[in-house]
Amino acid sequence: MATSNPRIFDTDKRIRLGIWGLGRGMSFYSTCALLNVDVVAGCDYNEHMRSNFLQANPGAFVSADAEAFLAQDMDAVLLATFCPAHAGDAIRCLNAGKHVLSEVTAFHTLAEGVRLVEAVERSGKVYNLAENYPFTAANMYLARKWKEGLFGELMYAEYEYVHECRSLAYTYIDGLPVQPGNTVHNWRSWLQFHYYCTHSLGPIMIITGERPTRVVALPARPSLAGYLLGNEEGMGGIAPSLINMSNGAVVRNLMGATTNDTHIQRLWGTLGSAELNVGRELTLRLGGSGGSPKLEVRPRWDDLGELAAKTGHGGGDFWMVYFFARQILTGEPAPFEIFAACDVTIPGILAYRSSTEGGTPYTVPDFRQPEARAAWREDHWAQQHFDPNAVFPVTCDAGITQHFSATMAALIRYSTAYRAYADWERVASDLARPAELLPIVENLANQYHDLLTTYALARRIVAACPGTDGARVLAEMLALGGEAVATTPAFRTALLARRDALKAEYAHG
Ligand SMILES: NC(=O)c1ccc[n+]([C@@H]2O[C@H](COP(=O)([O-])OP(=O)(O)OC[C@H]3O[C@@H](n4cnc5c(N)ncnc54)[C@H](O)[C@@H]3O)[C@@H](O)[C@H]2O)c1
Repeated sequence: MATSNPRIFDTDKRIRLGIWGLGRGMSFYSTCALLNVDVVAGCDYNEHMRSNFLQANPGAFVSADAEAFLAQDMDAVLLATFCPAHAGDAIRCLNAGKHVLSEVTAFHTLAEGVRLVEAVERSGKVYNLAENYPFTAANMYLARKWKEGLFGELMYAEYEYVHECRSLAYTYIDGLPVQPGNTVHNWRSWLQFHYYCTHSLGPIMIITGERPTRVVALPARPSLAGYLLGNEEGMGGIAPSLINMSNGAVVRNLMGATTNDTHIQRLWGTLGSAELNVGRELTLRLGGSGGSPKLEVRPRWDDLGELAAKTGHGGGDFWMVYFFARQILTGEPAPFEIFAACDVTIPGILAYRSSTEGGTPYTVPDFRQPEARAAWREDHWAQQHFDPNAVFPVTCDAGITQHFSATMAALIRYSTAYRAYADWERVASDLARPAELLPIVENLANQYHDLLTTYALARRIVAACPGTDGARVLAEMLALGGEAVATTPAFRTALLARRDALKAEYAHG
């Protein structure tokens, strides 16, 4: 295969693609160009995203109006709108005669899932879920070796997507604060983490070929500071569930926000086991016993994989568009067609439901079966949440609250910089490599002026809107950020002296 301009599909047919949702949706450009896909239209409420899109795609149609977007002459839509809106938006696309590549997750309620399945069947169009985490080099390697029988049968696995993305409750994905400034992110401000179950469950499904059949979860109460909803109903804590797979194995599916982001993945088969991201990218234990030799391996790509690796998410984004285009152009089904999309989405909804009921186990319905769809057709159970556009009551002065989202985004940065400094100081004498303290201290010292300005603004909003959720999360972050200590002149003097002393000792070492 030529390296400069590879021909991936044996056809000159092109796919005219529109991208709906230009935040995450923008990640796929470089990939589209390689895969017979021409981006011809974009749609987003946000002006700055539309203008970025046009810059990358001069001549394309762009609009904030979904009707006008869907009326364009295009074959397919890459759907990257708000997470809980995907089913409704996908159905609109299918009804407009477009193939759909939907971002995760596929739907928010089981009733929506039934509607989506039936809309796909009615339309005759291709529907794929863009679940990308199974398609890293390591996960694809494991899938190949699993099929060859290297690991035997699945006994147990622990896959996780632990990602503390607190600031994304207050900004768009590109880091700009949500507008208007007294509102919060449409869904990252409230969605309970169980719902976001596909990046951890997806890989184990693809590697082993098993589907989830039963799920149970216990409530986990403690939450991090700065989240508008507590963990039992929001995104600020840990969300573990246990899932039976179709061969009788158990998977611990772990999502959540904690003080340690990790993507550790471990699986145990009857013949061998594997660990990803535990110190090393991929380690296998082969030999059929607990004490068998454990060695590191280097997962290999094929030619196409090398190409994939140059695009986003460790290659995963490439494969999403590849499988989708391949299914449209050749009919070969993608790994996450509609029923696999249901299999990977439903356990999150039911896990959260289980946790709200103190741990009721749920059978995961198989929507390939019409009778399973009939049983859930009217099941609209969903998380209760606040209105992201009404976080502050109208009685609060909008002249002050308009600064909320920007202040909160900055406050998260500065208060965690303070907390890192303050807490690492407490174990400074135990550090294996004491020089590693220097960047932590410098980081706070360099931002100290902006920290003071942000703390003052946050305090002003708290004082102006007492008793509101906005005031509460600001106050939580001010406490985490040691407001009472950090804003004193003595603290500044000590901080700068500490930086200078560490610099003198380690800067050249
Ligand atoms: N697979 C991954 O690795 C990955 C990474 C990030 C995000 N995602 C998924 O991608 C989706 C989008 O995420 P995001 O990070 O861009 O965040 P987001 O939810 O902020 O983005 C949605 C974008 O769509 C626009 N939008 C929503 N509904 C619209 C409508 N009806 N008309 C016009 N514009 C509309 C919004 O203005 C916004 O810019 C989410 O569902 C998320 O779960 C997946």
